[in-house]
Amino acid sequence: MSASKRAAGRRAADVVETGQDVGLGTGSTVFFALERLGERIRDEGLVIRGVPTSVDTETKAREFGIPLATLDEVERFDVTIDGADEIDGDYAMIKGGGGALLREKVVAAATEHMVVVVGPEKVVGTLGTTFDLPVEVVPFARAAVERGIRALGGAPKLRGAEGASYLTDNGNQILDVHFESGISDAAQLELALDAIPGVVESGLFINLARTLVIGHDDGSADLRNKGA
Ligand code: A5P
Repeated sequence: MSASKRAAGRRAADVVETGQDVGLGTGSTVFFALERLGERIRDEGLVIRGVPTSVDTETKAREFGIPLATLDEVERFDVTIDGADEIDGDYAMIKGGGGALLREKVVAAATEHMVVVVGPEKVVGTLGTTFDLPVEVVPFARAAVERGIRALGGAPKLRGAEGASYLTDNGNQILDVHFESGISDAAQLELALDAIPGVVESGLFINLARTLVIGHDDGSADLRNKGA
């Protein structure tokens, strides 16, 4: 498992070129991209600015010696490298297993070339069949949002224990939403979720990824471009 993540992360880091502004995603696969970027900065003199999508990534990027900037300083990202919890044949994704979906989506939406790094187990025919959809909600609105989600056919579950729920880097809660038969129309569901007051963002990422890097346990990685 971690061999495939390592292969994917490192292969994606080799896509980055000197002078680029790079969105730094979050998760255990991105970790290996950060490690490789740090090596390239040290060994090749690669010059980049990275914007992290979570406190966790910020900490790791600093440890690997990646120069960081803020979203105030970077208008467009040349490349963003991020993981996924599921990705389908159109490169639509579920993200947010690590709770960083909001900042990840803000950065992805400002990116020219989003590179997604996964192991083969993340590639699915229908989204929502192996992973519940994370939805970030304002704590005040949580019960109302749960009712709205049930009306859309989803079964929401608060992440973490009641009374001590998981909080995102933005101080919000996460509802992990199960759809019994998966998600048949991800674009329509994203719009419907965004229309519920109190929803901050959903973990549906549609028409954002351009390149998919699938790592394998033998240490190899396949790089595919959307539509190719
Ligand atoms: C973080 O919130 C997520 O979107 C991650 O990118 C996703 O969960 C993939 O993480 P792993 O690479 O750790 O599986």
